[in-house]
Amino acid sequence: MPKKTLRDVAVQGKRLFVRVDFNVPLTPEGEVADDTRLRATLPTLTYAREQGASLVLASHLGRPKGKPEPSLSLRPVAARLERLLGVPVPLAPDCVGPQVERLAQGLRPGEVLLLENLRFHPEEEANDAAFAQALARLGEVYVNDAFGAAHRAHASTAGIAAYLRPAVAGLLMEKELTYLGKVRDHPEPPFVVVLGGAKVSDKIPLISNLLPKVSSLLIGGAMAYTLLLAQGYAVGDSLVEPPYLETARQVLAQAARYHVQLVLPRDHVIAQQVAEDTETRVVANAGIPAGWRGLDIGPQTAQQFREVIVPARTVFWNGPMGLFEVAPFRQGTLAVAQAMAACQGTTVVGGGDTVAALELSGCREAITHVSTGGGAALEFLEGKALPGVACLEDR
Ligand code: 3PG
Repeated sequence: MPKKTLRDVAVQGKRLFVRVDFNVPLTPEGEVADDTRLRATLPTLTYAREQGASLVLASHLGRPKGKPEPSLSLRPVAARLERLLGVPVPLAPDCVGPQVERLAQGLRPGEVLLLENLRFHPEEEANDAAFAQALARLGEVYVNDAFGAAHRAHASTAGIAAYLRPAVAGLLMEKELTYLGKVRDHPEPPFVVVLGGAKVSDKIPLISNLLPKVSSLLIGGAMAYTLLLAQGYAVGDSLVEPPYLETARQVLAQAARYHVQLVLPRDHVIAQQVAEDTETRVVANAGIPAGWRGLDIGPQTAQQFREVIVPARTVFWNGPMGLFEVAPFRQGTLAVAQAMAACQGTTVVGGGDTVAALELSGCREAITHVSTGGGAALEFLEGKALPGVACLEDR
């Protein structure tokens, strides 16, 4: 861990400004639909409270476009966090200003205040210096635990660190950087990467950055069809990205150059329509007729993926193997989740859809690390510097 963490600074009696990523899905009734991101920050919040610090928590929720939007208030988040922490979590009326400063200054050791949605102010996303200074006035130590938002150079994720020192990583941030750093920088071989999802174009930078270290690259999901088409297979009406055919050929060539075992689907669950009760068939490559499209990897492919994943020492998985939200196209994704769970090595999963699929499989607890970051995890693995990490103090 190259950055200082919460454990490296004395926080007793200090007021911490903690940037968290409480950007969580809400139900139509406005309740927190999934509190994973809240629970993931509990180690930081509990540790800091036990050390005798008080906490000013700041987050965005959704994309309110720089103005107050009542449906994106953090009020339901405050209520859920209060239950998880077992202490009152009052919600401030705003995230900056004299009234909020008074509330922050009135906090006693162990007490918690949640600020209202940072993105109600356009200055947050603009990384405005005056706004960053206004946020900085609320704390005495800056703790960034918002890994999920670390790829954003916003006032609360990056700008603030110029005005509020020490600036250190929270314990969730530390965990994310440790596991994703292991995947990116020193994976123990055999190192297997499993990619899926709709678009090959989204994953090209990730593939290019990881290929030199990868033992096997397993590709499913719709993105596989652009690669299969590049290999000359007829893919029927499967989703493909014609502008990326040449890039797909380069990926195939690159994998061969690095002696990576590249495994593409060899059989497919196909259908003419996406529906729970649609007629499906399992066909081999080259067997997808016009009017039909591939919507999941077939059972032979799932078995082959399993045989590669289970004995691996490091596995990273991003992207479902098919349209797992619809029952007939779910088995491939579940099979990968089960293989990950059976692997004795370090298993890391990233990306919103993938995590939802993992939940469905009931295998989440058996995974070494499930990242709370979608875009942030991908950018990190692409080798990009994350502004929310770069601004923190080096160890
Ligand atoms: C996320 O959910 O990926 C982060 O909270 C970042 O949100 P954003 O894409 O709206 O910046």
